Amino acid sequence: MSETDDTELEARLAEQDEFEPPESFVEGANVTDPGVYDEFEESWPDCWEQAADLLDWDEEYDQVLEDSNPPFYEWFTGGSLNASHQCIDRHLPERADEAAIEWVGEPTDEPDRTITYGELYEEVNEFAAALRDLGVGEDDVVTMYMPMVPELALALLACSRIGAPHSVVFAGFSASALAERMNDADSEYLLTANGYYRRGDPLDHLAKTNEGLAEVEHDVETVVVDRLGEDGFGHDLTDDQHDYDDLLADHRGAEVEPVERDAEDMLFLMYTSGTTGKPKGVKHTTGGYLSWVTWTSQAVLDIKPEDTYFCTADIGWITGHSYIVYGPLSLGTTTVMYEGTPDYPDNDRLWEIVEDLEANQFYTAPTAIRSFMKWGEEYPNRHDLSSLRLLGTVGEPINPKAWKWYYKHVGDEDCPIVDTWWQTETGGMMVTTLPGVKNMKPGSAGPPLPGVDVRVVDAEGGEVPAGGAGYLTVHKPWPGMLRTLYRNDERFIDEYWAVYSDTDSDDPEDWVYFPEDGAKVDDDGYITVVGRVDDVVNVSGHRLGTMEIESAVVAAEGVAEAAVVGADHDVKGEAVHAYVILEDGHEAGEEMRARIEESVEDAIGPIARPERVVFTPELPKTRSGKIMRRLLEEISDGEELGDTSTLRNPDVVEDIRQDVQGD
Ligand code: WTA
Repeated sequence: MSETDDTELEARLAEQDEFEPPESFVEGANVTDPGVYDEFEESWPDCWEQAADLLDWDEEYDQVLEDSNPPFYEWFTGGSLNASHQCIDRHLPERADEAAIEWVGEPTDEPDRTITYGELYEEVNEFAAALRDLGVGEDDVVTMYMPMVPELALALLACSRIGAPHSVVFAGFSASALAERMNDADSEYLLTANGYYRRGDPLDHLAKTNEGLAEVEHDVETVVVDRLGEDGFGHDLTDDQHDYDDLLADHRGAEVEPVERDAEDMLFLMYTSGTTGKPKGVKHTTGGYLSWVTWTSQAVLDIKPEDTYFCTADIGWITGHSYIVYGPLSLGTTTVMYEGTPDYPDNDRLWEIVEDLEANQFYTAPTAIRSFMKWGEEYPNRHDLSSLRLLGTVGEPINPKAWKWYYKHVGDEDCPIVDTWWQTETGGMMVTTLPGVKNMKPGSAGPPLPGVDVRVVDAEGGEVPAGGAGYLTVHKPWPGMLRTLYRNDERFIDEYWAVYSDTDSDDPEDWVYFPEDGAKVDDDGYITVVGRVDDVVNVSGHRLGTMEIESAVVAAEGVAEAAVVGADHDVKGEAVHAYVILEDGHEAGEEMRARIEESVEDAIGPIARPERVVFTPELPKTRSGKIMRRLLEEISDGEELGDTSTLRNPDVVEDIRQDVQGD
């Protein structure tokens, strides 16, 4: 293409704010009938039989939705099924020799691993048998603290095979974060690895695991995957630590009958951050969750069994659960797992994987796209990406500029982009375009999916008119929804329902789910999600609680008080800024900064490390003593300051502002 054409193209793209789905895509898309929106609305909740019908039930359900005790909804009651059967066994007649998982390790000098459905069946059965022998019974929570190696995906399926809920803790989280989650769930079993590779270097993950285990209040049986081989750090395993390969060898050829699970039985727990300092154990169930991720994988990601599908998330977060493991495997497709970072050994690593494996879908986070943009189009241009049929984004708002770059330089203007809004709690996608049906608008996630009742409301709960801004709310239950917070029904109601519901009512119409996101709505019902309205920061698509970070900052010796805010960041979306008051006798400076950083790394992990630490003699407070974090955020973002009249100490704000903004 000539340079003039290219400039013209840029100009056209820059102006265009609505894109039709490419014809080539629509021709073969899984969903193309615009009538699906009306159809689902008219037949709700029975429309969700279409999702449940994608699964293979042991016992048919007798009721789609049981809503007599809101917000404790139940879906597909009376039905029973097994998740590992859905993701493995039922595909064997057709797909035993087809790849289920294409695993790519970070080092380029070791072979990738292809695991066929047949092999997946064998190894999952062997590991399920081994877990049982270790004592894992139905409903025992098994924790996984694992890097992106195939054993992690296999372990989720092995647990679900024997009806043991898993609780995956992101490997980048700290030892204390692991212990806190294991203690909360009383989890007596742990799967971990001796390490993994990051930008070429082996990391000692077992040392961190052992530190965490020292803080766990009960006995734990641990299984250790030897990821590093000769690069390992030479730890000896203790009596209650078992080598994964040895366990498999002891159970070679074992077969374990999938346990029949009630639709409402727990499939897994996933801890996520919220308003208070303590992580919340989000509970997902077998029937509803699996129906949800299977249906959305088909309708939104347009997955077909013969596809190779690549999602760059980590299985330590919900996206990896729903859209690397359960959704894609339930549809019998090939799912790609990549261990490393996008910039190792060079900035084209992901494009190399797409080209090599001829991936058809690519699903990533806006923060990654902003990095790709910064690195430059030469990296995707080096590779043949013509196998791609659909692109997706998730985790945070995408700015139109990044959207258009993705559309042009990765999708070659020939792939629809699905900007999918959802959360750990929703289990799967809620707001996004159906790619074969709806036009795309860069920056706007789109309309709610068919059968999903998402509205934007004001503080009183009234629907905001087209063009307005307010809060995102969900007005009808959906099969993939969380059922409760683990062993804490009260907090479940407080966190998600109390704001907009009449909590004394038994009428589901009076119950409204509040995801704690701000949003705008266009005249055609397209929703633009702006970001969290609670004390959660979204750093590179990773959801972190400011309260958790604050308590880690305050734990550093010499810190008297701290306020943590999410500041705008070009690549990460948000970055952590900590405003810190020191105790008398302690000095602001590099040493203190390092101590604070270390404290945050120990409590949560490097992802939560403050990008900026501002030492201040005072924090802006209301007359009732509440820290006004909003003002600090405005200072961090270099914005005009809002109303300071309600402050007890208005002068301090100007001092901090001058200090930070430097004028
Ligand atoms: C944000 C990740 C804008 C939102 C799947 C939500 C988004 C939080 C989008 C959930 C999107 C997710 N546009 N914001 N397409 N997708 N978010 O639980 O603030 O890690 O509440 O789940 O990410 O983060 P979580």
